[in-house]
Amino acid sequence: MAPALYSNAVISIERLTHRFGENTVLDGVTLEVEAGEIVAIMGSSGGGKTTLLRCVSGLLRPTSGKVTVDGIDAVRQPEAARRTMGMVFQASALFDYLSVRENVLFGLRRWSEEPRAVQDRRAEEVLELVGMADAGDLMPSELSGGMKKRVGIARALALRPKIMLYDEPTTGLDPITTYTIDSLIADVRKRFEVTTLVVSHDVASVFRVADRLAFLEDGRLTFVGSPAEFGSSKRAAIEELVAKSQATSFLPAH
Ligand SMILES: Nc1ncnc2c1ncn2[C@@H]1O[C@H](COP(=O)(O)OP(=O)(O)OP(=O)(O)O)[C@@H](O)[C@H]1O
Ligand SMILES: [Mg+2]
Repeated sequence: MAPALYSNAVISIERLTHRFGENTVLDGVTLEVEAGEIVAIMGSSGGGKTTLLRCVSGLLRPTSGKVTVDGIDAVRQPEAARRTMGMVFQASALFDYLSVRENVLFGLRRWSEEPRAVQDRRAEEVLELVGMADAGDLMPSELSGGMKKRVGIARALALRPKIMLYDEPTTGLDPITTYTIDSLIADVRKRFEVTTLVVSHDVASVFRVADRLAFLEDGRLTFVGSPAEFGSSKRAAIEELVAKSQATSFLPAH
């Protein structure tokens, strides 16, 4: 396959390599995500998905390679790069001692130069968008897993990012809640035209939301293509994953 050359790439990852000591976790990953596109990253557990997302987000400096987000070098200017991105972490990472509203306001108070009243309004707007308009006064300990994800998404959206990064947004959620979070991810893209990178191991879920899928095996991307191409791939690890998801989709819920 010819290398993807999108003139419109908002996320560009070039020959990204990362080692933790002797352990090569990412080994020359190259991927581009177009403006407004949703790309899902799949792969085995421990395969380096979170590490890839952390390198893109500027939270982790890769051993080598280049990451450009919205024209900013995320390796050299991680702080500036981070301002363009909203991140929803694998664990919800809410501040336990702050209410839902305060969690959403946290980044706004710190980074936004708008008047407080505008920030307050923005917090209410994003909470409404994720279906949590009435939950502003609740504490994280009072929320279900799906609600925590929603607040995480609202918090990430509050600063109007151009890019959203989601790490396993539906892991541990029941199928119905998974469906609602998937719809929310699609909604957010449509409404704000955000470029999206989402890590997931749920085939049904990524088939619903992603325009393209990338498959990470032993630190290398062994597949990048459409959901239909993924579904008919002859790669053993992909076939196995697809077969497993088809098998479970026929099982009764209980
Ligand atoms: N801070 C770290 N220090 C050392 N090794 C790490 C660190 N973070 C991750 N690793 C190692 O890197 C590898 C990839 O981890 P990573 O969390 O990126 O995988 P993953 O694909 O996100 O897995 P999962 O599906 O379980 O979330 C693992 O072998 C892990 O042990
Ligand atoms: Mg992970």
